[in-house]
Order: sequence, then structure tokens, then C-alpha cells
Amino acid sequence: MNIITPTADGSNTLYNETIGEHYHSKHGALQESKHVFIDAGLKFASSEQSEISILEVGFGTGLNFILSFEYCSENHINLDYTSIEAFPLTTEVIEQTGYAAYVTEEIWSDFISNYDNALKTQQTLSPLCKLEIPYTTLAEFETDKKFDVIYYDAFSVQHQPEMWSDEIISHACSFLKPGGTFVTYAITGKLKRAVKANGFTIEKLPGAPGKREMLRATKGG
Ligand SMILES: C[S@@+](CC[C@H](N)C(=O)[O-])C[C@H]1O[C@@H](n2cnc3c(N)ncnc32)[C@H](O)[C@@H]1O
Repeated sequence: MNIITPTADGSNTLYNETIGEHYHSKHGALQESKHVFIDAGLKFASSEQSEISILEVGFGTGLNFILSFEYCSENHINLDYTSIEAFPLTTEVIEQTGYAAYVTEEIWSDFISNYDNALKTQQTLSPLCKLEIPYTTLAEFETDKKFDVIYYDAFSVQHQPEMWSDEIISHACSFLKPGGTFVTYAITGKLKRAVKANGFTIEKLPGAPGKREMLRATKGG
């Protein structure tokens, strides 16, 4: 059961009763998404690029996706977005988040009208945006494709430690192109070591409100 809950910046998040955790920061869902994934991830990786491929771990409500879709549309960047989700929400729950207010009507309607089909196969939402939401766990996810950016947005290590094991981090990192960018809201010594072991250089960046630091890592090779 997921319960809609307001966060400190006025945007909503969901509280997942089974896991015992919110989908976003209680200090501000919208702020966190913009700070960690759009600013430190997408804007950083797409400067001077006309196309970008993103792999997200944990599609959830689609907040990171709609903000990415809008940013790429405004900046004429071709977006190829794949987001792994083991427990997809219903369209009804996603609509209750109120996130329609944060993007244009057109972006929201392109997203909502394609969401169910994107769980089955890749959908073309606009001339500049493709979306696919593989309905699987990260551990079982396989593809020959390599991505420019990974948004690692799993539930926290306290609530889902298996999503932060060295093996699963290494599995996720294997889908990134050389020179690609890995971003996540979290930063621990164990995570830094796991990412470094896969040939990444790491940066500690200021975290979203409520978190001192976050991790951005660049794949070598
Ligand atoms: C922190 S939330 C993601 C929030 C999301 N990015 C958003 O913008 O709403 C974590 C997500 O990971 C999903 N998840 C949990 N276990 C997973 C697994 N083993 N593989 C892939 N996704 C998983 C959850 O269902 C949830 O949607």
C-alpha cells in the first residue's frame, strides 16, 4: 500500500508501507529530483550533446522521467529513457501525486497516455523522446544496450540493502558507456568502494536539502 504524503517543498511523495520508506526525500521530492538527477546527472552529461540515453533504477512515480523529458524537449536533446521497475504503480496512483503541475500539459499527457504500454515495450512519446519501463528487477535485467547516464534511485540501504550490494552495483555499472555518468542521492564508503572497483572516478557533491553529500561517478576506459 502506498500513501500520498506531502514533503517540505510542497511536492508530494509516496510512502511505501511494505518497505517502510518514502519514494523521495521528505525534505522535498521535487527539489531532490531536480538536484540529484537533473542538475548533477542530466545537465552535466548532456552539455553540448544532441542525444542522451538514460537508465534509471526504480521508475516509481516517474518524477525523474517527466523532468528529464521536459528538460530534453526544451533543449532539443533526443532522449532515450529506460527505467527498470519491479513493482509498477498504477496510472491512478501516479495521477494522484500532483506532478502534472511540474511539467507542461503536453509532457504530462504524453507520459500518462503511454505509461501502461511502456511497461511492455518501448514507446515513442514525442519526436524527441522514447520511454521503456522494463517490468523486472535490476538483478534480472539484461540488455546489450549501453547508456550515457544511470540514475540510481533505489530505496535506501537501510530498507533495501540488496540494492546496494557490490554485486548489484557492479551489474548496474556494466550498462554504462565508457565516460558515462552514474548519479545517486546516497553516498557511503561501501558504495564509493564498489563504484571505484568498477573503474569509476568519484565526486562528492553537495546533497539535496536534508543530505550533506551525494555521489556522482564517471566510468573510465
Ligand atoms: C526510491 S523509489 C524510486 C523513485 C522514482 N525514481 C520516482 O521518481 O518516483 C525506488 C523504486 O525502486 C523500485 N524497486 C524496488 N525493488 C526493485 C528492484 N529489485 N529492481 C528494480 N526496481 C525496484 C520500487 O518499486 C520503487 O519504485
